[in-house]
Amino acid sequence: MNLLDVKGLSVEFRGDEGRHDVVRDVSFSVPENKCVALVGESGSGKTVISRAVMGILPAKSRITAGQILFRDNRKNGDFVDIAKLPPAGPAMRAIRGDQIAMIFQEPMVSLSPLHTIGDQIAEAAKLHRFVGSKEALELTKDMLRLVHFPEPERAIRTYPFELSGAYANAP
Ligand SMILES: Nc1ncnc2c1ncn2[C@@H]1O[C@H](COP(=O)(O)OP(=O)(O)OP(=O)(O)O)[C@@H](O)[C@H]1O
Ligand SMILES: [Mg+2]
Repeated sequence: MNLLDVKGLSVEFRGDEGRHDVVRDVSFSVPENKCVALVGESGSGKTVISRAVMGILPAKSRITAGQILFRDNRKNGDFVDIAKLPPAGPAMRAIRGDQIAMIFQEPMVSLSPLHTIGDQIAEAAKLHRFVGSKEALELTKDMLRLVHFPEPERAIRTYPFELSGAYANAP
């Protein structure tokens, strides 16, 4: 059983010199309990494909063809076509950050410098687990402990720029 079926996906960007396809007719599946790696040279479209799946394509781009069929466990395993969902609508917001998440390449630009990492991680719990701030921070500490942060209590109070060098790389 596949969790995700991307079928014939094409994405175009609009620029000063007109439109051009950056992803053309891409198909792949992610089976349940499997890891799937997208491999390709820089600029081949891995990030654009991932952003399309998350419903967070840049404003200058759009899906021109294909389907992104996601099996939504919250909906009795029915398939929903992410390519057809409004990116900011309630259905996509319920999936994004809960059932599908993304770890971006550049932590310094993808994390907000103005919020502690505790608050940034806890936001997902508050949105999707419907818990209050205190419980969300507890869940966040559990999560940091799980990935071997040495001092989760301290880590949740730090800002991204403070998590550098040995501390961030601690096993
Ligand atoms: N915001 C944007 N505006 C215009 N073109 C873009 C934009 N973002 C990506 N592209 C173009 O889309 C294509 C695919 O880029 P993408 O970032 O998906 O590549 P990638 O496979 O993730 O590369 P890397 O391995 O370097 O991360 C590239 O040709 C890039 O120039
Ligand atoms: Mg990339």
